[in-house]
Amino acid sequence: MKASMRSRQEPRRVSNGVIIAAMLLSLCVLSIVKARYCSTPFVKPDDQLQEQMNSSIRMETDEPATKAAGGVEQEEEEEEEESSAAVGGAGEPAVSTTTTTTVPVSGNGGGGGGGKKKPTCRMTSKRSERCEARGDIRVEGNASTIYIAGIDKERKTKPYARYHDPVAMAVVREFTLKPVTDSSPECTKNHTVPAFMFSNGGFSGNLYHDYTDVLVPLFLSTHQFKREVRFLLSGLKPWWVNKFTPFFKQLTKYEIIDIDNDMDVHCFPRIVVGATFHKDMGIDPAKSPGHVSVVDFKRALRKAFGLERVAASRGGVTGNGKPRLLIISRKNSRRFLNEREMAQTAAAMGFDVRIAEPDQHTDMSTFAQLVNSADVMIGVHGAGLTNMVFLPRGAILIQVVPFGGLEWLTTVTFKNPAKDMEVTYMDYNVKLEESSLIDQYPRNHQVLTDPYAVHKQGWDALKTAYLDKQNIKMDMDRFKTTLQEALDKLPPV
Ligand SMILES: *[C@@H]1O[C@H](CO)[C@@H](O)[C@H](O)[C@H]1NC(C)=O
Ligand SMILES: *[C@@H]1O[C@H](CO)[C@@H](O)[C@H](O)[C@H]1NC(C)=O
Ligand SMILES: *[C@@H]1O[C@H](CO)[C@@H](O)[C@H](O)[C@H]1NC(C)=O
Repeated sequence: MKASMRSRQEPRRVSNGVIIAAMLLSLCVLSIVKARYCSTPFVKPDDQLQEQMNSSIRMETDEPATKAAGGVEQEEEEEEEESSAAVGGAGEPAVSTTTTTTVPVSGNGGGGGGGKKKPTCRMTSKRSERCEARGDIRVEGNASTIYIAGIDKERKTKPYARYHDPVAMAVVREFTLKPVTDSSPECTKNHTVPAFMFSNGGFSGNLYHDYTDVLVPLFLSTHQFKREVRFLLSGLKPWWVNKFTPFFKQLTKYEIIDIDNDMDVHCFPRIVVGATFHKDMGIDPAKSPGHVSVVDFKRALRKAFGLERVAASRGGVTGNGKPRLLIISRKNSRRFLNEREMAQTAAAMGFDVRIAEPDQHTDMSTFAQLVNSADVMIGVHGAGLTNMVFLPRGAILIQVVPFGGLEWLTTVTFKNPAKDMEVTYMDYNVKLEESSLIDQYPRNHQVLTDPYAVHKQGWDALKTAYLDKQNIKMDMDRFKTTLQEALDKLPPV
């Protein structure tokens, strides 16, 4: 049994501004290693840049997270599959490599298995720790404590998949795993199904983080329970839960327990604390229980939000009409300055055009329906593009990459995930002539001539120069060419 617990510091409240900054900053760091392998029109980031990012941002690189396919992990994942087989019978159990002494528990049987089994806490990647135990388990939510019979010592864990990001983790509640003793509290509620504990952490509300940090890992970690699982959610915000309730219902039959504010002592035959993380917005089917993929995740979402459309086509929703272009609009930063012209141009080319701006208050179901009706979706790099999860198979995502050598950022966040989602990905790299920056700086200014020199000044400088203060006036000739290419790539009727 591998255990990789580390002691961590108590969370401290961090202001929203810091959280938002760090969220963007973390995306940056996530991608910095990758950047070195991407072609860009500028000088590539060098070791010096990487070193500076390393020191100023004090985070680990994301290399292990994006290519976390090591043999050791493989083996450990198979252990998970064995567990899943015991619970729901999903997938083919790969017990041959299992080294545990698990006493199979019939998932709904209650009572638990052999009491001598120790909890396993291990990092599933640099992003997340997962602890698992069976037997006599008592959760005292208001005390952030999980009592587990048979463990030898106390451990602490935080059930949120962003361990490489200290700012995010600072606002995630820590839980203590303690051995059951005579003085441990008695059960006030007995459950027969396993518990799965997770947190919606510090960045909830940003659609990209909702998916990459919480929902995709949650799906990958719990679908195998076949809804016979109790979710214990820490950091529960009712508006956030409401937004995704239809999705949670795909994964559990039961009400979610607001564990931070719960006065009961809940007892379970089994508990999993913390999700498994594979990669940004993605799942590695070779390592997931039941070999599910992100396409299965999309299917679950489609079902949750009643999205009927499976595949995109040149003939649009009806198959014999126009293909639909959805322009994802932004109001504050990275705006399209000629959105109307874009819409007119696209309409003249035969698209049925829709323009929409999602925000935190957008009704998920309504927006999901709209995205699902699109054949082509275009938008400037930003969280709104996360809506690609609702695109039908074969649809096209055009990510408009702002001026500033940001390809490394846009690749990790949307380009790579799109592939696995059966979405055809296209870039539209904004030229200086299309950027509002050309009016904001003299032609020989570093921001225009040497973006990587700006990157070297750190994330704040990069963000200020290229993400916060840049709007985009699309060149209609280039836009037309891009749309034509998209049309050609759409599945024929
Ligand atoms: C940056 O940090 C990573 C991970 O700690 C390390 O592998 C890499 O060598 C560092 N790069 C530089 C240039 O210091
Ligand atoms: C949790 O609730 C129980 C029952 O009301 C109470 O005895 C206990 O002191 C509480 N613990 C904390 C840390 O608030
Ligand atoms: C829960 O189960 C335990 C062990 O079987 C039992 O002692 C206890 O009375 C039960 N508690 C409740 C509230 O049902």
